[in-house]
Amino acid sequence: MKQVHLSYVGATLLSIFAPEVAAFPGVLEAATRAKADRHIVGRQEAPDLNPTFNEKLQHVSTTGEHAFVAPNLAAGDQRGPCPGLNAMANHGYLPHNGVGSHTDFIKGTFDVFGMSADLSGFLTVLGGTIDGDGLTWSIGGPSKANSGISSGGLLGVPQGISGSHNKYESDASPSRGDLYLDGNDFTLQMDQYQQLYDAGQANGDVYDLPLLTDFRSQRFDHSVQNNPYFFNGPFTGVLVQPAAYTFIYRFMSNKSAEYPAGRLNGDVLNSFFGVTKNADGSLTHSPGHERIPDNWYKRAVGDEYSIPFLQADTLLAAAKYPKFLNIGGNTGTPNSFAGVNAEDLTGGVYNSRSLAEGNNLACFAMQFAVQASPDIIQCSGVLNGITSAMQRLTSQAATSLSALSCPQLTKIDDDQFKQFPGYANLDCKTGTY
Ligand code: HEM
Ligand SMILES: *[C@@H]1O[C@H](CO)[C@@H](O)[C@H](O)[C@H]1NC(C)=O
Repeated sequence: MKQVHLSYVGATLLSIFAPEVAAFPGVLEAATRAKADRHIVGRQEAPDLNPTFNEKLQHVSTTGEHAFVAPNLAAGDQRGPCPGLNAMANHGYLPHNGVGSHTDFIKGTFDVFGMSADLSGFLTVLGGTIDGDGLTWSIGGPSKANSGISSGGLLGVPQGISGSHNKYESDASPSRGDLYLDGNDFTLQMDQYQQLYDAGQANGDVYDLPLLTDFRSQRFDHSVQNNPYFFNGPFTGVLVQPAAYTFIYRFMSNKSAEYPAGRLNGDVLNSFFGVTKNADGSLTHSPGHERIPDNWYKRAVGDEYSIPFLQADTLLAAAKYPKFLNIGGNTGTPNSFAGVNAEDLTGGVYNSRSLAEGNNLACFAMQFAVQASPDIIQCSGVLNGITSAMQRLTSQAATSLSALSCPQLTKIDDDQFKQFPGYANLDCKTGTY
């Protein structure tokens, strides 16, 4: 990492409040409340901590302007690795072409799923920075609607999240394949999905966090054992990978008076993944056809899924499977996993043990994503607008992490990653359905 990157992280930038998030103060308040709730880890187990169901506020419309409209992929509509975002675009909660602004993503994820603005604000601004033109980004591959013109013209074409392997998109995803095993990282792989589906069926048609955590462990082992370029990165492995699993239960589950924290069955899972069940019980996937089920209810208002909430779920999963927090990867052959030293990586700010303490996990993963962005942008994003894009990302990170009292990470030394081809060979893979 070159020193020049460090200048983007400075106390002066803390004062620039991200306008995207400022527009949703109620959501921020909810995030702060969630952070104050020390019992959050026990929420799923302790029904008395469950949120209060409100049918009217939590019902998500799938009619009128929010009726399902299949994407016209041939005409350039973009759909990609994220079933949540694909479903939102199919129902008019994001622009149908799959290219949105930060406001579109923050409002859409709140309206449909109850994602807290600390989390959505960070995720969207990071997406805009490394996969988009700074202000807008594509939920699939490169798009004409996202040529970079809004950032004042640029030299590269933004790649969208499909083209962000090991930058945003991670290995060992639930339904999507590893790029270097399956040739792309954004298409649903039916063998993986079938495994998940069957596990829930064997669990009484219930898809909950313990089941998803066990499935993640299987997927993780499968990648270590088969993908010579498997990489469990500081951001992609430590935070994106767990989110890909916990989002399935936390967001896709149907909330009700009986199950205010949510209950997820196979039919709802199928709908959100664009899968239909045939008369003989077999499953068929239609790429890009993710659907919000009719008569489906999102998270309770005031119980938004926030960064501290995701962190608590992530730590719970790592307590069961400590390997999840092993940063590193295979070194070019299957089963050659080598870990890196978090202390060297962060100039001593974090070490492997302290990662699981306090808020260090979210702090570390997100600070790393910010610090690594300038290098990543060289491949896929806003070349001309790099300074303003980095200022926007740094200030959004400060806002999103403000409640966490993070130790200050001022530089990263990712030299250790050169031994991992999965990271060292980060190129500009493009992808689209
Ligand atoms: C701005 C907000 C969001 C961004 C930037 C985002 C981005 C992504 C990315 C890059 C991936 C690929 C990660 C991987 O390789 O495993 C992903 C996967 C996923 N996302 Fe999202 N996402 C967002 C919101 C949501 C929401 C609201 C849901 C609600 C259900 C969701 C559900 C998922 C799931 C379940 C996966 C894993 C897919 C699979 O491999 O089976 N995401 N998302
Ligand atoms: C969600 O739960 C409610 C209450 O049990 C039920 O009426 C509704 O059909 C469920 N929605 C879906 C999509 O399963």
